[in-house]
Amino acid sequence: MEKIIVANWKMNGSREFVMEFFKNFNNNTANQIIFCPPTLYINTVKEYVSLIGGQDCSVHNSGAFTGEISASMLVDVGCRYVIVGHSERRQYYQDSNEIVRAKAEQAINSGLIPIICIGESQEIRHSNKAIEYVVEQLSASVPLNKHANYLVAYEPIWAIGTGLTATSDDIIEMHNAIYKALPNPTTPILYGGSVNKDNAYTILSLPAVSGVLVGGASLRSQDLNHIVAFSEQAML
Ligand code: PGA
Repeated sequence: MEKIIVANWKMNGSREFVMEFFKNFNNNTANQIIFCPPTLYINTVKEYVSLIGGQDCSVHNSGAFTGEISASMLVDVGCRYVIVGHSERRQYYQDSNEIVRAKAEQAINSGLIPIICIGESQEIRHSNKAIEYVVEQLSASVPLNKHANYLVAYEPIWAIGTGLTATSDDIIEMHNAIYKALPNPTTPILYGGSVNKDNAYTILSLPAVSGVLVGGASLRSQDLNHIVAFSEQAML
């Protein structure tokens, strides 16, 4: 099965960074690599690769919403995807499940494929309620239309940017619970949270994992080259 890689650059980079990055990035794989740079650099990244995603979008389509970027604007500059509900948005910008659902629906209505992020905190994981919590968060965040096309990214909050990753058993257990809760069981489910060149092969080899959402390691072109190479081996 084809594996999907999402490179989430978050609020990092510059025009010079983009040029340096693509000098060393090998862009020849059958797998899908979706680059999500800061909105201002989408055009610069587009000179090198074709699959681009936004990191967030507004719940509105246009109007007096200073500082916001709409899903239709992302389409206009060539995006095919958009991340919604990233835990940093949920935590620092109060994106509730309701807002995440509205963003996902706005994205779909504009012609984008949303990548809907869900995941539990350390506290919830320790209280043995992770599955219950994530399944509930999922049901409240996905579009109401059962035929909607989207990806899900399971990203345990305690694993993001910490160097900690969920064990293979925990990933399998959670992804299977997510598959069961989804209206369409063929919806791809990605794993995210400290994916790097050392753990990518193990994670990508799991049949329950359709791909990975990579933050920190996706800013280093050589590391991303390794992850892409592993995604090819994992398909064999
Ligand atoms: P990380 O970030 O790979 O740096 O942990 C993943 C994410 O937040 O999407």
